[in-house]
Amino acid sequence: MATPIPSFPLTDVKKISILGKESIHCGFHLVPYIVHTVLTELPASTYVLISDSNIAKFYLSSFENEFNSVLSGLANGSHVRPRFLSHLIAPGETSKSREGKAAVEDFLLLHKCTRDTVILALGGGVVGDLVGFVAATFMRGVRFCQIPTSLLAMVDSSVGGKTAIDTPHGKNLIGAFWQPEFIFIDAAMLETLPSREFSNGMAEVVKTAAIWDETEFGSLESRSAEIFAAIQTPSVNHAGRSETTRSQAQELLLSVIVGSISVKAHIVTIDPTEKGLRNLVNFGHSIGHAIEAVLTPTILHGECVSIGIILEAELSRQMGILSQVSVGRLTRCLKAFNLPVSLVDPRIANLPSAKLITTERILDIMKIDKKNHGTDKKIVLLSRIGATHEQQASVVPDTLISKVLSDSVTVIPGIPSFVSMTTPGSKSISNRALVLAALGTGTCRLRNLLHSDDTQVMMAALSELKGAKFEWEDSGETLVVYGGKGSFVVPPKGKELYLSNAGTAARFLTTVCTLVQKSPTDEAEATVITGNARMKQRPIGPLVTALRANGSDIDYLESEGCLPLSIRPNGLKGGNIQLSASVSSQYVSSVLLCAPYAHEPITLELVGDQVISQPYIDMTIAMMEAFGIKVTRRTDKTTGKLLDVYDIPTGGYQNPSNYAIESDASSATYPLAIAAITGSSCTIQNIGSASLQGDARFAQGVLERMGCKVTQTATETTVHGPPIGQLKAVEEIDMEVMTDAFLTATVLAAVANGKTRIVGIANQRVKECNRIRAMIDELAKFGVETQEFDDGLEIFGKPINALKGANIHCYDDHRVAMAFSVLASLIPNTILEEKRCVEKTWPNWWDDLQNKIGLEVKGVELSSPSVSVSSTQVKSKSVVLIGMRGTGKTFIGDLAASALHWTCIDADVHFEKVHQTSVRQYVHENGWPAFREAETKLLKDLLTQNGHNHVLSLGGGIVETATARQLLKDWTSKGGCVVHVVRNLEEVIEYLGVEGSRPAYGEPITEVFKRRDPWFAECSSHRFINHVAAFADGKIVIDPTDTKRGVREEVARFFDQITGVSPNFPPSLSAGRRSYFLSLTYPDVTLALPQMEELSAGADALEVRVDLLRSNNDVNPVERHIPAESYVADQIAALRRVTSLPLIFTVRTVSEGGAFPDNAHKEAQRLLNLALSLGVEYIDVEMQLPEKIIQQLNARKGSSRIIASWHDWSGRLKWDTSDAQAMYDIAARHGDIIKMVFTAGSMQDNFDCQAFAARMNNRPGAKPFIAINMGAAGQLSRVLNTTFSPISHPLQPTRAAPGQMSFAQVQKALHLIGELPAKKFYLFGTPIDHSLSPTLHNSAFEMLGLPHTYILLETSDVNEDIKKTIASPDFGGASVTIPHKLNIIPLLDELTPAAKVMGAVNTIVPVARGSTRILVGDNTDWLGIRGSIASRIAVGHIHGALVMGAGGTSRAAIYALNDLGAKVIYLWNRTRGRAEELKASNPDINIQVVDKLGHWPSGITPPNVIVSTIPASETSLEDEADRLFYPPSLYSYREGPAIVLDLAYKPVETPLLKLAKMTAPNWDTAQGVEILLQQGYAQFEKWTARRCPQGPVARQVWKAYYSPT
Ligand SMILES: NC(=O)c1ccc[n+]([C@@H]2O[C@H](COP(=O)([O-])OP(=O)(O)OC[C@H]3O[C@@H](n4cnc5c(N)ncnc54)[C@H](O)[C@@H]3O)[C@@H](O)[C@H]2O)c1
Ligand SMILES: [Zn+2]
Repeated sequence: MATPIPSFPLTDVKKISILGKESIHCGFHLVPYIVHTVLTELPASTYVLISDSNIAKFYLSSFENEFNSVLSGLANGSHVRPRFLSHLIAPGETSKSREGKAAVEDFLLLHKCTRDTVILALGGGVVGDLVGFVAATFMRGVRFCQIPTSLLAMVDSSVGGKTAIDTPHGKNLIGAFWQPEFIFIDAAMLETLPSREFSNGMAEVVKTAAIWDETEFGSLESRSAEIFAAIQTPSVNHAGRSETTRSQAQELLLSVIVGSISVKAHIVTIDPTEKGLRNLVNFGHSIGHAIEAVLTPTILHGECVSIGIILEAELSRQMGILSQVSVGRLTRCLKAFNLPVSLVDPRIANLPSAKLITTERILDIMKIDKKNHGTDKKIVLLSRIGATHEQQASVVPDTLISKVLSDSVTVIPGIPSFVSMTTPGSKSISNRALVLAALGTGTCRLRNLLHSDDTQVMMAALSELKGAKFEWEDSGETLVVYGGKGSFVVPPKGKELYLSNAGTAARFLTTVCTLVQKSPTDEAEATVITGNARMKQRPIGPLVTALRANGSDIDYLESEGCLPLSIRPNGLKGGNIQLSASVSSQYVSSVLLCAPYAHEPITLELVGDQVISQPYIDMTIAMMEAFGIKVTRRTDKTTGKLLDVYDIPTGGYQNPSNYAIESDASSATYPLAIAAITGSSCTIQNIGSASLQGDARFAQGVLERMGCKVTQTATETTVHGPPIGQLKAVEEIDMEVMTDAFLTATVLAAVANGKTRIVGIANQRVKECNRIRAMIDELAKFGVETQEFDDGLEIFGKPINALKGANIHCYDDHRVAMAFSVLASLIPNTILEEKRCVEKTWPNWWDDLQNKIGLEVKGVELSSPSVSVSSTQVKSKSVVLIGMRGTGKTFIGDLAASALHWTCIDADVHFEKVHQTSVRQYVHENGWPAFREAETKLLKDLLTQNGHNHVLSLGGGIVETATARQLLKDWTSKGGCVVHVVRNLEEVIEYLGVEGSRPAYGEPITEVFKRRDPWFAECSSHRFINHVAAFADGKIVIDPTDTKRGVREEVARFFDQITGVSPNFPPSLSAGRRSYFLSLTYPDVTLALPQMEELSAGADALEVRVDLLRSNNDVNPVERHIPAESYVADQIAALRRVTSLPLIFTVRTVSEGGAFPDNAHKEAQRLLNLALSLGVEYIDVEMQLPEKIIQQLNARKGSSRIIASWHDWSGRLKWDTSDAQAMYDIAARHGDIIKMVFTAGSMQDNFDCQAFAARMNNRPGAKPFIAINMGAAGQLSRVLNTTFSPISHPLQPTRAAPGQMSFAQVQKALHLIGELPAKKFYLFGTPIDHSLSPTLHNSAFEMLGLPHTYILLETSDVNEDIKKTIASPDFGGASVTIPHKLNIIPLLDELTPAAKVMGAVNTIVPVARGSTRILVGDNTDWLGIRGSIASRIAVGHIHGALVMGAGGTSRAAIYALNDLGAKVIYLWNRTRGRAEELKASNPDINIQVVDKLGHWPSGITPPNVIVSTIPASETSLEDEADRLFYPPSLYSYREGPAIVLDLAYKPVETPLLKLAKMTAPNWDTAQGVEILLQQGYAQFEKWTARRCPQGPVARQVWKAYYSPT
């Protein structure tokens, strides 16, 4: 550089070496230093600073100013002056993407940055990772510097050279190792960092110390409050830039950061590319990352890692590698930095996405961890604080991981062998021992100390007061206390003793602080103790009053009677102290413990009401004696009664070298009880007869009386249980002195022989829960009876094998959980829910149960995720029909079999065949029981021999025997369908009146019906309602529009659907075309039936809003309503007669915008199950329903589909949030289709909605997704949504949701925005001016709101006009008629099979093939013929057909008839030769050429279908010359439905049709126009992929037909 860089202010930095270079520089207020260093060390033509807009707000201008002032001072020498550029990105993880990278690169390219550019990444990990990756690849790599601004970035992401971006497939999947030239850490920048982000970084700091440096960890553990304070107090005037201006807090902060970075830098240097050692920094990350994958971005990386740290530590504890002490220290340390330590933390548990965290999911995500070894998962295991189990991650089996992750556990029953153990230390004794040893002289090793918040806080405060020194030994099992002999100093000014919410510590320390003496070096005038908000409300008044009266100078700093307190260092005077002990015995213990250090001996007099908790006072006195001070309690000389007056001598405690803290006696009851119940033995090592704790009497007071052998020394208790099953009930046990142990006694009493009465435990109603109630309720689940009374309860013991395992709810009460785990050691399948509740007193209880007691404990996941794949349905499994006689089983079975192409077996007919006698006769000869038995056996045989591809129609009485019912239930449980055919009873009675072939009922039919109906329901999986009439409110209403066709179509649809053979789903959905459903908002859908075609025009499905249904019987059709199941079933059946569109069954709750009560989960579930049994195609399942219900529906759904839905009316939910993402993920897990409906506030919401949907739909394997906004502002989203857009119709009384539009409106909108270009359609041929096709198509276009037109193009030959037309881009398709049906073929690219066979084209369809458009020739004539026939006669029921004529149309007729399964086709033509030709060209079809009409060979069934293509004018009913004569014998078929089609258009009634009407009542007729219509509908559908609204279109066409031209 030409000119030297000007100087800059004095700056002290700590330098850390990484990869052999001191490139990490840490300090405060570094901007000038950074600019100077960069310009000197990294000469370049361009410096580009990249940051995010959050950070730029605070720091960009100082960089800009500094750079500009330095650069402008440089003389313009021979070199061009370097440039300084800056570029900002949006804050947040989403910037770390391919798009984000491209944007930065484009900026660099736009500004012509070259290889010698230096990039400065100023920001958090997002900026660092993104910019680092850009630097790695821009111009094949340019130099860059990290200037991390978040704590996470400082201690973690900036160090090590890892750079990356995210993709939708996962985080950090694309990146590079690229080392920065410098890392500048300016800790002053943390002052602007939000405190949650600071905590986020602290997770990494704690992690690093945990794996590497116990001392460092110790300081994090005890100095959390100071560390926080360092970033919360702004440093003015660049304080801290030089060491002389640096505060203590800044020093601490810097040392924490430097310490953490040094470890990482060291590890990176040894293992730069993460081969082994570097894996250690992944402690907490294996599980943490998996959690993060689900919760990101709502929950931050460090927060997930914090939870991961604890789970991974628990894993090592479970494996016996790490002690609970260390787990406890980790937990408390992370908590102190405000980090969550478990998934039940409300910050996490309350998120919608928390639902997605399941063991299975976490394990699944963990599979793709880079550390893994093949399929083995590797996790860093801690062996103690500061050290790992191996110098690398260790292999851990999935079973262990899932045990740690599971929220519940089960115990595998077993018999422990001889158990000898200690249980966790008593909390009260631990706290006292700490104070005593700290005050005492000499070194004391405390063993079995309970690690709790109290002890933690107490130790930190005692260290702060310089009253003692603490050290951990044996990886934290032993605490070494170097006693301070009662000397303390006032903490430095501004330093408060923060006691969090630790009550015992606050009480004990208040007196301890009065012991502090003045010293000349004191900075502060008083000691201040404070706590959190809750602590500031807890009472301390009586103690302060007593101490003040004794001369101590104590002030309340906030509210009277509570912390914080300011205590002057005057020492404790001593003498007489009066204290009220009715609130807490801890005040008494506090004074007692400190009393020996007063100036004068103390006489403590307890005044006021009753002294509470005397045992705790006795405990304190006993422990003081162990430390060498004897307290005397005065007695009344006259009565000898003990007085509440204590004399304490002055002196000092003499520390015993070892002090074993007694185990918690309540905890000890559990292992002892396990010995008692399993007939084994157990020794608890440090609780004996000398114990200070009441619950220590449990062994003798309870277990001995129940028949155990108990031996107790002063310090040990051993219990031998009687043989299993021989525990004795105890008539009455008073447990007042050991109330906490009553739960343990209660579970033992449950298996004792007789009744046990436990008294003296009334206070247990107000513990963590109402424990008496809890025990009663949970024991009831095992089948154990109890009786509650004021003072306790009675338990009626039961033999062990009479108890059945149960899921135990633990009420978040550790004692409930541990007590029931005693029972679980004997009773299989007992599941203890909420396993974490034991943490309060025995965090590693489950591990100890397994590792020390020897009973296997397994993790259980209660809410296992449901998978939305179809259940175990086997498509070919036979269908069984059951139901009352006369419901139409045979009729329906027949139709079903023909629809499925299966075989129908009628069990009665089959019975007669097998037994060679009629059912009636068989019953007559052998009686009913024998018949039922034979019938059941036959059912069994049928199911085994005809288990596939059959429809089995059973007799009505089959459900009378239990065996048969079981057979049917088994069938459904194996995925088979049992269909209950239901028909109105009155109809059945009427029908049976005329039918007598089967045995009569010996009792009134209504009685039989009543008895069997529940059985039918219980044995069936589905219900088919044979609706001959609609039932409205129980009355039969014959619907004139009802035709047999409706029933037939419905039978086919129903069975195709429920068997899964050919489910009724709209093709548009699978083809990815736009699809719509019409929301029906009628209270009674029968009102809509006559208009159904018009209403549903354009719709691919119909939604039945079940919550809106109201029958006339619903006297009070108010807002919230639950419609009756029978009414709903009838409504569905009624709809089914007029439409075969798929139905969506929706029970919308009030909170999601419907009318169904919000909390009626069970009722909603029942209705949704009803829908599944009715074979409804889609059910809408609100995701706010309980998980269990959603799972049940998924398991039961068969081939129906679940629309998993969320509706937000509040307008609060936005598409670009993690909530939306979480909701999507939940819905995707449970549903086949995802539906999310939010409320739009602005147009932007629609774009966000679109963007979100696009992002989700691009995911691999994405499910169909309905994403829309409600409200007028949301209408655009309805237009743009592609899957199942809800629509309304102007004919409907109300819309289902605000902003809903009609199909036609949506199409018009699509057209206007360019999504639906207008097309032209044509008719080619001549003469065509009378054609009805323009009327047909144009009215259909109009009804659907489509922008297309249909035009005549009359030409006598296939000319240039036609060629030009079909080549035009707006050509939508054409109909082709005479004379072009053949000539057109050469212009087309492809023919459909039908067109090929018929050798003629009547329809041209343009089809997109990739990017090109091809023209396909089709023939829909046959479809018209087929449609007319199929709407009257079921497929497979055409015995024979007659076709008259042998031209092109006859070809189409033959093609259609063959497709419909006609067994034989008779062909007549005036010239036989042409008929023979036609026959010859269809060699695979059974065609018989006939010469004479109406003469059928004898012995065969005459045809039931006739199709004529002869012009009507050439035919006659008289025997005239030149005219074809139709004899009445054409219509000889009389056995069932039959149809005659005359393809001639005019006249309306041709001779052929007239003859049928006159002579053949069973023959239906179809006119030419009808067939024209049918083929036109087919054409329309091929062109638009939309159903043609047939009825309304037909009305228009008929009108045109009759109108004079
Ligand atoms: N490369 C690695 O080795 C590595 C390691 C760990 C994490 N990471 C990555 O780091 C990213 C997370 O980093 P992060 O936590 O720093 O997130 P971040 O960059 O998003 O920063 C967090 C938030 O704090 C703001 N912020 C940062 N510093 C600030 C300051 N001084 N004052 C005010 N606001 C400030 C940011 O604008 C942002 O809103 C993730 O993408 C993660 O994958 C990378
Ligand atoms: Zn991390």
